[in-house]
Amino acid sequence: MKVAVIGAAGGIGQALALLLKNRLPAGSDLALYDIAPFTPGVAVDLSHIPTPVSVKGYCGEDPSPALKGADVVLISAGVARKPGMDRSDLFNVNAGIVRSLAEKIADVCPKALVGIITNPVNTTVAIAAEVFKAKGVYDKKRLFGITTLDIIRSETFVADLKSKDPSQVSVPVIGGHSGVTILPLLSQVKGVSFTEEEVAALTPRIQNAGTEVVEAKAGSGSATLSMGQAACRFGLSLVRALQGEENVIECAYVEGDGQYARFFAQPVRLGKNGIEEILDHGPLSAFEEKALQDMLEILRADILMGEDFVK
Ligand code: NAD
Ligand code: LMR
Repeated sequence: MKVAVIGAAGGIGQALALLLKNRLPAGSDLALYDIAPFTPGVAVDLSHIPTPVSVKGYCGEDPSPALKGADVVLISAGVARKPGMDRSDLFNVNAGIVRSLAEKIADVCPKALVGIITNPVNTTVAIAAEVFKAKGVYDKKRLFGITTLDIIRSETFVADLKSKDPSQVSVPVIGGHSGVTILPLLSQVKGVSFTEEEVAALTPRIQNAGTEVVEAKAGSGSATLSMGQAACRFGLSLVRALQGEENVIECAYVEGDGQYARFFAQPVRLGKNGIEEILDHGPLSAFEEKALQDMLEILRADILMGEDFVK
């Protein structure tokens, strides 16, 4: 397996690269690319960790050497929020970055599974899809917006509230990755129940968890370490599925059947070709059904913004 991390010198990129160096299967190649000139140094640093994963670093204007032969590409290139900003405020800078990286991926490794971390995810995934389409290589089974941070936060907060082991808690999160488009399905958490008040408090806590970190970091960025952990979990799931493991299931922001919006975060079963099956998110509570209907206008507008950007 070759996994390319794009944006690898950044806060998420370095945390993700460290985790992947330790956790990718033996014999894997890890390729790190960033415009930052010290990126090869990050690779040299990681290469001293004694695991059977080779690591190479690349910088400069052209990501092609890092992308060549990649099975999985994880993109965290771009700017992060500061206090007072919404994720959509990142569009002006990050849209162009994702567009040019998607163009390179289409040219160099069109069959790779591509996971996008760069915000605003609701929009950047649509940008990548439109670029791939224009290049004639779009396969909706191979493109993912990584929303795993919403999952791990939900698992942590539920476990805290209910005094559970977080590794035993599973919370599907559907919709998108910003504000009210993040919808944790607390009604589906097995082995615990919530009062109406708990749902009304926990849902916005999960939706605003990114802002909680942005404010706590007070101007120096957004979640990096927890996102590194989340992206590692998702990236390893892609790798395990590519290697033939069955029943690898994750929630991700993908193009499904369009029932709610062209792109929608939902549970998917992963396999050798990316998405093998879009899974039913199951029954919703009345609270969740209303929250779902209320988010759709925002989510569809976010997607349209990405589509229009490329067109
Ligand atoms: P960061 O500023 O620490 O790192 C970003 C890196 O991208 C930098 O090293 C920069 O040099 C690099 N970069 C910029 N343009 C590039 C290009 N064209 N090619 C390659 N590299 C390029 O930021 P971060 O904290 O790592 O966050 C990165 C992105 O991830 C932000 O957009 C942030 O909002 C987003 N994010 C998403 C989630 C999520 O849940 N999906 C969670 C946290 C952060
Ligand atoms: C998060 O959820 O932490 C990320 O999307 C970063 C952000 O800007 O909140």
